[in-house]
Amino acid sequence: GPNEKQYTIGFAQCTNGDEWRKAMQESMEKELSFHPGVRLILKDAHDDSQLQIRQIRELMDEGIDLLIISPNEAEPITPLVEEVFNRGIPVIIVDRRTNSKLYTSYVGGDNLQIGRTAGQYVGELLHKQGNVLEITGTPSASAASERHSAFVSALKAYPGIRVVATVNGDWERKYVMPRLPAVLKAHPETDLIFAHNDRMALGAYLVCKELGLEHRVKIVGVDGLSGASGGIQFVQDGVFAGTLLYPTGGEEAIRTALKILRKEPYEKENILGTLVIDSTNVHILKQQSEKIVSQQHDIHRQQERIQEQTRLYTSQQTVLYIVGAS
Ligand code: FRU
Repeated sequence: GPNEKQYTIGFAQCTNGDEWRKAMQESMEKELSFHPGVRLILKDAHDDSQLQIRQIRELMDEGIDLLIISPNEAEPITPLVEEVFNRGIPVIIVDRRTNSKLYTSYVGGDNLQIGRTAGQYVGELLHKQGNVLEITGTPSASAASERHSAFVSALKAYPGIRVVATVNGDWERKYVMPRLPAVLKAHPETDLIFAHNDRMALGAYLVCKELGLEHRVKIVGVDGLSGASGGIQFVQDGVFAGTLLYPTGGEEAIRTALKILRKEPYEKENILGTLVIDSTNVHILKQQSEKIVSQQHDIHRQQERIQEQTRLYTSQQTVLYIVGAS
């Protein structure tokens, strides 16, 4: 409410240049719109761990009450996050993790579960038989190392499935496009490509198309964003065989931050679930996600109306005051 205490939250985001991060920021802002006393300072590290370290120091100098961080890479970021935590500033880790238990709360998906679910889905999709190529995110990021190790170990239950190659796609299509063709030409036996996110999965599809392999090679991604360039649409269009939902947790991160700041009870681990999106459920999921988008739009319109009414009321009070005073 309006009598809420003022807080400043610093958000050290590993990158803010893609749709998934933008969706995270939007859901944070939607939640923050109910708390006008809370200020969010967002710093975009552009996938650069050294820059992220400098930005965390800047946030500390600005005097934040709480830090939200998505660590670009686990190892280089860990000591500073421990330092912030040890100084008594609450730390919420989102999406990617550090190598340490010194943090106040984690909000996000379980990337081991993502990797495991992907492995089981791929195993069944290929009827327990075939050749898989994996495209990873930046391997030193926890989301990539966890997705990779859990994927590979889940596939151990399928002795008929072989991982023919693992390519580092550094999370982006622009790195997949030049790196993948040689690997795919060396492994024409590839039946399926599992990419650690939908942007790289799209890159994989485009490379397959260039090589005339798009009907042979199945594509599976991660993220499952809604919207015209999101994974749900690519599954709907048959470009991907499937994708795994990876919720951003923006709203949950802000809610957890407020509980911590107000000294209310909170959970240390806030794990958001996943789900395979494929031809069996894409239709209903698309309808549901469109509904949510339109409801968010309504909430926004209602907030604007309330603000307008408040302005009107305030100016009427002023008029009454002037009339009363004369
Ligand atoms: C967004 C992103 C997502 C991925 C996540 C992993 O920047 O690359 O596509 O699921 O980061 O941390």
